[in-house]
Amino acid sequence: MGTILLIHGPNLNMLGGRDKGHYGSLTLSEIETLVSSEAKKVGFEVRSFQSNHEGALVDFLQKESPNAAGIIINPGALTHYSYALHDALVDTGVPAVEVHLSDINAREEWRRISVTAPACIGVVSGKKERGYVEALDLLVSKLKTDS
Ligand code: DQA
Repeated sequence: MGTILLIHGPNLNMLGGRDKGHYGSLTLSEIETLVSSEAKKVGFEVRSFQSNHEGALVDFLQKESPNAAGIIINPGALTHYSYALHDALVDTGVPAVEVHLSDINAREEWRRISVTAPACIGVVSGKKERGYVEALDLLVSKLKTDS
């Protein structure tokens, strides 16, 4: 069974209590359970991690990616400015899909830029928690094509 890393950046630990219009009503732990159970159906286990700190996310990627088949990441606001996270994703050599609960292209101007997206094989945005299931499908098809 391969491992998929499910990674969340700053403030996503507060899901459930954040603006539900943008982010939906599920808590982070409910999203993690959803992704784990969907991944299990297609033969993958999920290792989840959230941090409010850029360096901790980079550390996690460096440490865990050598044992992972793929990555699903919602970098939160780091999406818009973290070149360190971009580089860490590239360095893993593992396919990653970026997810946003809200539609980052339909909000403030500064949210339209993703500096991490070029390090990913795809971006799913604006589909709330369903976006994670779509990201998983995308990742698993890529992994199956590559194997
Ligand atoms: C987010 C979008 C980001 O702009 C924001 O800073 C977040 C969440 C999303 O899931 O829609 O914290 O990544």
